[in-house]
Amino acid sequence: MDKIIIEGGVPLSGRVAISGAKNAALPILAATLLAPGVHCLSNVPPLADIRTFKKVLGLMGVQFEDGGHEGPPHRHDALVVDTSRLTGWMAPYEVVKTMRAAVLVLGPLVARMQQASVSLPGGCAIGARPIDQHLKGLEAMGTKITLNQGYVEAKVRRLKGADITLDTPTVTGTENLLMAASLAQGVTRLHNAAQEPEVTDLARFLTAMGARIDGIGSDTLTITGVEALTPAPYRIMPDRIEAGTYLAAAAITKGSVTIAGAPVGALSAVLEKFHEAGVRYKITDDTITLEPAGSLTGVDVKTRPYPGFPTDMQAQFMAVMALARGASVITETIFENRFMHVSELNRLGADITVSGNQAVVRGKKQLLGAPVMATDLRASASLVVAALAAQGTTEVHRVYHLDRGYANLVDKLTGLGARLRRAPA
Ligand code: EPZ
Repeated sequence: MDKIIIEGGVPLSGRVAISGAKNAALPILAATLLAPGVHCLSNVPPLADIRTFKKVLGLMGVQFEDGGHEGPPHRHDALVVDTSRLTGWMAPYEVVKTMRAAVLVLGPLVARMQQASVSLPGGCAIGARPIDQHLKGLEAMGTKITLNQGYVEAKVRRLKGADITLDTPTVTGTENLLMAASLAQGVTRLHNAAQEPEVTDLARFLTAMGARIDGIGSDTLTITGVEALTPAPYRIMPDRIEAGTYLAAAAITKGSVTIAGAPVGALSAVLEKFHEAGVRYKITDDTITLEPAGSLTGVDVKTRPYPGFPTDMQAQFMAVMALARGASVITETIFENRFMHVSELNRLGADITVSGNQAVVRGKKQLLGAPVMATDLRASASLVVAALAAQGTTEVHRVYHLDRGYANLVDKLTGLGARLRRAPA
């Protein structure tokens, strides 16, 4: 397992380019199962989770050809996915336990193969994360679901459109049901659907393949099933959480940074909170340019489903609040255990106390480098953000968590003037 060694205290400066969105690329990769043939996806981020998902799809007979980084621009970061011949319909426990997003094959497999055998994901560091809403929706569409030795066994002759109201606006639940409904017989209305931009990106890809979806971007999706979908080229949207993470890194180091190729329109709640805290920036439709801020002020934040403040930015924002003036009350309403980064931030000298789903951050004048341990993807990002501003050396251990969601993190931060390097632990 590697670690990252960071010499903090350097104000970041320069320009960083945002990669494709992990949480759009994963459901879009799953959606290629719906349309037999050759798909050409571009702006696919080079991440561990993408590599893991390709393994899952490979087990079912999907073939890939990496467009690589050379070749004509339209093939830059391109990934060719051939779903012509599927030989299986199973997502095994060994993979799902490492990446719960593998449950995204459930809807497409039931729609394409009329069956699926997908391991229940089990809990993870940030919470129980059940998939009851995914299963409720598929059952409403006529799927017979049985649980057998930790696997969801799903079977159906032909999916039928249904009226489904989700108990909670689950992101991957909405995505699974949206994919299944695209090939169902009749109309499906999905109420209380997640509105995350990545759900919209999936809906746009499905539409490009011939799906008929109304209400894209709203909390009610109406899908009129079609007989078949046809592969279509598609460019993955940029990653709003990666962009927000670099925003946090620039803000905490009082740097002047341009974040290029960012989905600015999908970052309103995050930009609003940084502005309230005293961060000054200029935006265009795809760039955010920060100007060196004075001292930042502690502000309260509550995570909410989109368009509210995203839970995936909670840990990174908390790191910034650790050096803001005054107090900040951070309320996590999405996951029941997403404060694993608090004890590690406190090892860097932060003053954060947790009570239930609230963390109270009392801003300090400085943080001091120390060895810390990453526990989950966004917690590890939060430790990197804090370490960039801490005086002295910080070692972030178990950085495989970072590799899941941040492409070329060390190179991108080095390009902004940060002093860091990766080394074997
Ligand atoms: C997606 O996870 C993202 N992952 C997560 O990003 C993100 O944190 C989360 O949405 C919330 O925005 C991907 O898109 C691959 P949920 P997902 O289903 O779909 C409960 C990252 O850092 N729930 O919206 O698994 C659940 O327990 C990752 O990139 C049910 O009760 O999240 C949770 O409390 C981490 N029953 C809440 O809803 C269900 O059937 C939100 O979960 C489904 C979910």
